[in-house]
Amino acid sequence: MGGGPTTADLVVAVAQAGGLGFLAAGYKSVEAMSAEIANVREGAGAGFGVNVFVPQPRADPVVVEQYVETLAADAARLDTRLGEASWDDDSFDAKVEYLLADPVPIVSFTFGCPDRDVVEALQHVGTPVAITVTSPSEAVIAAAAGADCLCVQGTEAGAHQGTFVNADAPGQDFGLLALLSEVSRVCDLPMIAAGGIGGPRGMDAVLAAGAVVAQAGTAFLRCPESGTNPTYRAALTDPRYTVTAMTRAFSGRRARGLLNQFMVDHADAPAAYPEINNATRPLRAAAAAEGDADRMSLWAGQAFRSAVDRPAGEVVELLTRGVHS
Ligand SMILES: Cc1cc2nc3c(=O)[nH]c(=O)nc-3n(C[C@H](O)[C@H](O)[C@H](O)COP(=O)(O)O)c2cc1C
Repeated sequence: MGGGPTTADLVVAVAQAGGLGFLAAGYKSVEAMSAEIANVREGAGAGFGVNVFVPQPRADPVVVEQYVETLAADAARLDTRLGEASWDDDSFDAKVEYLLADPVPIVSFTFGCPDRDVVEALQHVGTPVAITVTSPSEAVIAAAAGADCLCVQGTEAGAHQGTFVNADAPGQDFGLLALLSEVSRVCDLPMIAAGGIGGPRGMDAVLAAGAVVAQAGTAFLRCPESGTNPTYRAALTDPRYTVTAMTRAFSGRRARGLLNQFMVDHADAPAAYPEINNATRPLRAAAAAEGDADRMSLWAGQAFRSAVDRPAGEVVELLTRGVHS
């Protein structure tokens, strides 16, 4: 989980409980990513992977500027400035190069399909590759690129959707169970199920639907090992927030979070990632520091009410209760 919630401690705790924890390389420098890898290696053994963002095309600067202008009042209210609405590739090539030179147990990609040569290069150094897909057609593309397995992400999932294209395609929101079923019709790669899994019944359901393993994010947000900031953490149990919704307001890419005022006020945000994410970064940071949960991203999946304030090892145990390997 990029943006803070995933820490080295969280990954180690999950691994020690028999799970597979993913370090978030997204939004980090190569140096920060490599430091985290070094931090988890000993404690997590083979129970960790690294998640990498695939670069996005540049957005229309005029559209970005028009949207960023609408955020001025929020910035003024927080007595902060907006960041530069710049494009970046999240150091994709350098991260892949590092992961080739110092291989990790598994690498997953999101926000697109890496080129086949990237997939093959990682496999060549002994690293299996997972690619996040949100539709059957993306699964076909990921299989053609040589993925070893798919992270099948339903619309219930917290935070960003891993869709290959940042667009408003009608019918793109697949519920996880339907998606598992449809993906298994078009390709036979092992499926990691993600989205809205809040307890052992959710685990049972996705395994019954053909997944080999389940992935949870939101369930770990309240763990003491997670880096979820206090304002965000408090919002997860605040009775004011009753539902989650999909928004581009904070980042310019569709992501699910607790429905707050910023999402309501900026419902027409354009598709422009990472430009909008970079522009709102200081605003989100100021809101978090001020305790203003209505102006920060509160990424969470639909099952957020199931997240508990318990150590990560206990959450793994709770999720897998009754599941036999
Ligand atoms: C706070 C947060 C940050 C996330 N960051 C990433 C990320 O950096 N890369 C990624 O592939 N998925 C990310 N995800 C999505 C998860 O990989 C997964 O699809 C999702 O958490 C599953 O749904 P759930 O949150 O309902 O369990 C994030 C999820 C959350 C809640």
